[in-house]
Amino acid sequence: MTTNDFIPKKKLDLPEKGSFKWKAPSNIALVKYWGKLEHQIPANPSISFTLDACATTTKVTFEKLTKPSEGFSFDLIFEGSKKESFKPKINTFFERVQEYLPFLRAYHFTIETSNSFPHSSGIASSASGMAALSLCLLSIERSANREMSDAQFDKKASFLARLGSGSACRSIKGDLIQWGNHQGIPESSDLFGINYPFEVHPIFKNYHDTILLVHKGEKVVSSTVGHGLMQGHPFAKNRFQQAHDNLQKLKDVFSKGDLDQFMALVESEALTLHAMMMSSSPYFILMHPNTLRIINKIWEFRKTTQTPICFTLDAGANVHVLYPETVKEKAIQFIQDQLVVYCENGHYICDRIGNGAKELKV
Ligand code: DP6
Repeated sequence: MTTNDFIPKKKLDLPEKGSFKWKAPSNIALVKYWGKLEHQIPANPSISFTLDACATTTKVTFEKLTKPSEGFSFDLIFEGSKKESFKPKINTFFERVQEYLPFLRAYHFTIETSNSFPHSSGIASSASGMAALSLCLLSIERSANREMSDAQFDKKASFLARLGSGSACRSIKGDLIQWGNHQGIPESSDLFGINYPFEVHPIFKNYHDTILLVHKGEKVVSSTVGHGLMQGHPFAKNRFQQAHDNLQKLKDVFSKGDLDQFMALVESEALTLHAMMMSSSPYFILMHPNTLRIINKIWEFRKTTQTPICFTLDAGANVHVLYPETVKEKAIQFIQDQLVVYCENGHYICDRIGNGAKELKV
């Protein structure tokens, strides 16, 4: 497929006004997207677990303008109050998607959005937020284009979400989503996420992710800036190749349910991500001392108890603790006894692998 396939082919008879509401989950990457080309094309393929509890709910109310606006006409309401500081990001998103949603200048939009997780938790809301917004906007197109199948809708929603934030394209569906061209994965695409097409052992079906909130403040370097620093990075070529190799290795790991290999690969990916940050120019560190303390505790616990519990990191200090359903009680006990002390105000979020976005009644 090419980008042209996402441009509506005929003029749509769109409604005067209406509203749509979607709840879209966050996701946690196992093989990380870090580095991008123009037009939100990833420099390497990635794969993630879709989450369940961490989500953004967005309602978009739209009303036709008497004449199309010069710029985009919208209000942004975040958790009940107008939020001007979010508008530039939405504006950029509208600019990027207007070709694919040609009706955007014909309406005034009221975008009301809220997260299930605390705003200052350090959990990125761009993935769930851009996914929820894309789904609402695409629902307007679908209301006038009944020929659009569910599969086409999901694909285009992922395509649009990617233009808002790369990782958002993995937040439309569940439970294991792959994004980015990969030789060994038929149908894989740089343009949108797909459901992982190979066999996955049941051990990965109810996987848990307990998110330890180590540091809740703003990140010192945004993901977008971090991606940019992969351009000309001395290790970029090898890193991108490594992501391809890791996706290839995961095929066997997933089908066999090989937890040891899974944990080794996922932790290596997390540390490689941060190693790329530490070796960028300029370099930066997003981990905090407590991030490392937690990692060491997890390694010690795993070694002494043989419990299959591992960690991954996103672009921040928080630690995602991953474990299968079969060791849930043990893992929670360990987290409470030994890890919560390293969390800011003792805060953590119990999440698990989920099934993707849902449309809600307005
Ligand atoms: C470390 O998707 O937030 O979480 O495309 O610039 O919006 P933009 O970046 P973003 O980057 C996510 C990076 C990551 C890894 C991942 O989710 O794969």
